Amino acid sequence: MIPVTKPFLPPKEDYEKYLKGIWHRRWLTNMGPLASELEMKLKDHLCIDHLLFVTNGTVALQMAIKALDLKGEIITTPFSFIATTSSIVWEGCTPIFADIDKDTLNIDVKKIEEVITERTTAILATHVYGNPCDVLGIQKIADKYNLKVIYDGAHAFGVKVEGKSVFEYGDITTCSLHATKLYHSVEGGLMITQNAAVLKKLAYIRNFGFNGPEAFAELGLNGKNSEFHAAMGLANLDHIESIHTNRKLICEHYDKKLKNFKGVKPVWNSFATMNYAYYPIVVEDESLLYKCIEILKLNEIFIRRYFYPSLSTVLPYVESVEMPITEDIARRVMCLPLYHDLSLEEVDLICRLLLRTQNN
Ligand SMILES: Cc1ncc(COP(=O)(O)O)c(C=O)c1O
Repeated sequence: MIPVTKPFLPPKEDYEKYLKGIWHRRWLTNMGPLASELEMKLKDHLCIDHLLFVTNGTVALQMAIKALDLKGEIITTPFSFIATTSSIVWEGCTPIFADIDKDTLNIDVKKIEEVITERTTAILATHVYGNPCDVLGIQKIADKYNLKVIYDGAHAFGVKVEGKSVFEYGDITTCSLHATKLYHSVEGGLMITQNAAVLKKLAYIRNFGFNGPEAFAELGLNGKNSEFHAAMGLANLDHIESIHTNRKLICEHYDKKLKNFKGVKPVWNSFATMNYAYYPIVVEDESLLYKCIEILKLNEIFIRRYFYPSLSTVLPYVESVEMPITEDIARRVMCLPLYHDLSLEEVDLICRLLLRTQNN
């Protein structure tokens, strides 16, 4: 069986090394030494000044909206994971969709301006598959209309734009360290901001708003993460180079083998590096996609329709709105299996089956 993804696991001894310390200290959560060490090492690895390790990527989005005190309407992409939109609603704001660019699959900057009203307070955009949005274009609009910018960087671990971490753009960027992500801490998330006041507020929010044992600075929640999760993050970080190298090799092999497949990959931001988080293909038409899914399934190979369906049409708590490009792409997109120990022979098999399907 070839699943669409398999979490990376470090050698067991690497993790056990950290467990010894946890047992010795009996400090299990609440910003313990491993959580702090992980934050420090991630700042170093990502070349960023400030970062918080939090519960997960969803709570990170909710805390970001809260910390920026957003109200009213937030412009966002319908081509993302549910958490991007649901966090907006969860925080009492209204998501307003802007359609995506058909080539990059990120929010279309030109469409953002069309839906700005006097109630708009922010833009929440996803770097889809780790492919950075037009960060300068978005900032220009934000400056013009005095809007905040949050990036959902759940997929974008390790990506750089013009030599700088993609996490440094916008007012706040969030990341997910969920087990399915290329770098993970089982469950986990990151929050990045360049603004010292926002960082301070986020640190309060993450810890119930506590300002000392008996005082409160903010309305907060429990956004902390545990020592066990930090330990997995630390153990995995030691392998990040080989994770990156292997995924790159697999993606390049897919590229080579699927040259003649009737589908296209998203156009990558030309100023950005790649992290090989996913291998998405937009298939020529939906019927070919169904055929591919069927044939692969018969061979116990599983792809993911990611993202499908368009968030603009299916949420019972958001008014449906037509987003023709997202709806079209969502119907035709698939992410192929991609994980650290997927072999090139397995990639060959997947590609052979796909090519045979299109030729039948
Ligand atoms: C784009 C995007 N945003 C947010 C999330 C939520 O992250 P988490 O699962 O860590 O809560 C995910 C997770 O899959 C995601 O893909």
